Amino acid sequence: MTTENRGTKAIYPGTFDPLTNGHLDLIARGAKIVDELVVAVLRNTQKGTPLFTVPERVEMLQEATQGMAHVSIATFDGLLVDFARTQGARAVLRGIRAISDYEYEFQMAMMNRKLAPELETLFMMPAEKYTYVSSRLIKGVFELGGDVSSLVPSNVEARLKAKVPGKNA
Ligand code: PNS
Repeated sequence: MTTENRGTKAIYPGTFDPLTNGHLDLIARGAKIVDELVVAVLRNTQKGTPLFTVPERVEMLQEATQGMAHVSIATFDGLLVDFARTQGARAVLRGIRAISDYEYEFQMAMMNRKLAPELETLFMMPAEKYTYVSSRLIKGVFELGGDVSSLVPSNVEARLKAKVPGKNA
């Protein structure tokens, strides 16, 4: 009898600046098909200055995923494949919303496969109603006074209101 853990652990990596309902939908879907899902926030993003700090993004994720079984939140730096290896993960979970996501995701998945052939990338589609939602659009719309309440969890909306003074306060 082996004591080896054969449960499938997957990493769901991202910037999460901020978490959207699309991300949350994917987390819920992913958690249903793997035994353990680690949502991993990249610490040193090359996407410019984030709106939220890493601790804030982690807190928002923790609050929103409270009560979701088999989901944990972590941060990582450097190569995703190195983090996945230290975690003992067998898969990376990524969301695909539209064809426009495909090229970037394909390149990333192939590069990760080159670096770590044992690691599989799993793609899942979020609910249709979130296919156009991105963190970048959420920030842009919110900053201009638009209502994003149905597109982000309520804790994220509250933090946006606290962080971005003005039209939505
Ligand atoms: O939410 P994002 O910004 O689309 O997530 C991108 C992320 C964090 C998955 C990607 O930038 C990443 O994995 N960065 C870590 C560095 C790395 O491993 N690069 C090589 C993969 S091509």
